[in-house]
Amino acid sequence: MTDKKKSVHDAWSSRFAFILAATGSAVGLGNIWKFPYITGEHGGGAFVFVYLACVLLIGIPIMIAETMLGRRSQRNPIETMELLTEEAGADKNWHYLGWMGVIAGLLILSYYSVIAGWASAYIVKAFTGSFFDADAVAIKGIFTGFVGSPMQLIFWHSLFMAATMLIVVRGVKNGLEKAVRFLMPSLFLLLLILVGYAMTTDSYFQGLHFLFVPEFSKLTSDSVLTAMGHAFFTLSLGMGAIMVYGSYLPKGISIAKTAFLIAGADTVVALLAGIAIFPIVFANNLHPDTGPGLIFQTLPIAFGAMTGGWLMGILFFVMLTIAALTSSISLIEPAVAWLVENKGFSREKACVWSGLATWLLGLGTVFSFNVWSNVKFFDRSIFQLLDYLTANLMLPIGGFCIAVFAGWIMKRQHSEQELNMPTALSYQAWKILISYVAPLAVFFVFLHVVGVL
Ligand code: PHE
Repeated sequence: MTDKKKSVHDAWSSRFAFILAATGSAVGLGNIWKFPYITGEHGGGAFVFVYLACVLLIGIPIMIAETMLGRRSQRNPIETMELLTEEAGADKNWHYLGWMGVIAGLLILSYYSVIAGWASAYIVKAFTGSFFDADAVAIKGIFTGFVGSPMQLIFWHSLFMAATMLIVVRGVKNGLEKAVRFLMPSLFLLLLILVGYAMTTDSYFQGLHFLFVPEFSKLTSDSVLTAMGHAFFTLSLGMGAIMVYGSYLPKGISIAKTAFLIAGADTVVALLAGIAIFPIVFANNLHPDTGPGLIFQTLPIAFGAMTGGWLMGILFFVMLTIAALTSSISLIEPAVAWLVENKGFSREKACVWSGLATWLLGLGTVFSFNVWSNVKFFDRSIFQLLDYLTANLMLPIGGFCIAVFAGWIMKRQHSEQELNMPTALSYQAWKILISYVAPLAVFFVFLHVVGVL
């Protein structure tokens, strides 16, 4: 690797630290808040099937590629693309890919922080016993009252952004490792308990049926695009988050194995959330297509009804908030790393500016749930527009470019050396997936959406 500029980069202490951080980035609101509500909106089983297929055939190969690019250059995403393009003797324009990632991260964080704010607000609601013995109507009332208040949403959004920036300012590594190490097992356990509760409702099998029995006639091209976009979103792919984390990864560690582990953990958490939520939806005559409020209108019913539900409710929303934090820091890290490494900003200054910009943008999402709920662009509220633009368009486009770069531009000997797979066959399998399967799949889904196919 050319070593023109000296890297100012840190490194993880071990492979395990990287796994923890990347899992922390992957597991977040995407799994517990977004997966259930978009599955509900897009009709269940068939949508889940497409999502799982995308994780396996597109997500995992691209996760391997993204980690590999980051580790090879050991720089932030923008510089990574510049350096690796130079190494491959390719066109300069590839660095725009790094740019798109930085921007996508900030756009996502702007609404992610608002929703994470909801989760934190619900810690207090759980604590004060708001859910106690409340039925579906009362729980819905609590939710609509809450999102109808811009001041409350701004307060929690601000708090969450401040917490994110406080962690990022100290450098991503400090504290993250500990947080994730305790978070993952606890989150897993709580979800299992919630699944246990779902089993006691008489709609358990109806919920399972909804999630896992595909009715392909329900699939529209929009559903397929959303499922594919979600595979990128939930695995934190296509915008440089995993690339940045990969850049802190010491040489000589197997990338492929870690990618499988991370994607596996991420998928299990999402499926458990779905299995816990849909039986509650059906048992209380709610609608699966309730939208972004779905978990906030279902899980509190369970907390209000089950023994120990008070404590469970508090713990659940605390953990959801922490899971969101370990993702949000990875959404802003590409921007901060770039400002520090290329623009000579101090880490503090980089955090303040990127944090402020994101916070301000987040106000658009806040208002889209109340005072601006009638403001629509292309039939979408500001929140829906930001989500569509990032998850459905920018991340898949970013992922497509990463796949093309890793499969076609980077020299074979370089990727082979960097990945250092145990067998020639596993390298070959990855190479086919990244060069053909992943980019063509993204391409065809886009063609379908614009109506060419
Ligand atoms: N993967 C995170 C989640 O599921 C969101 C995220 C997307 C984080 C893209 C980083 C990059 O909540």
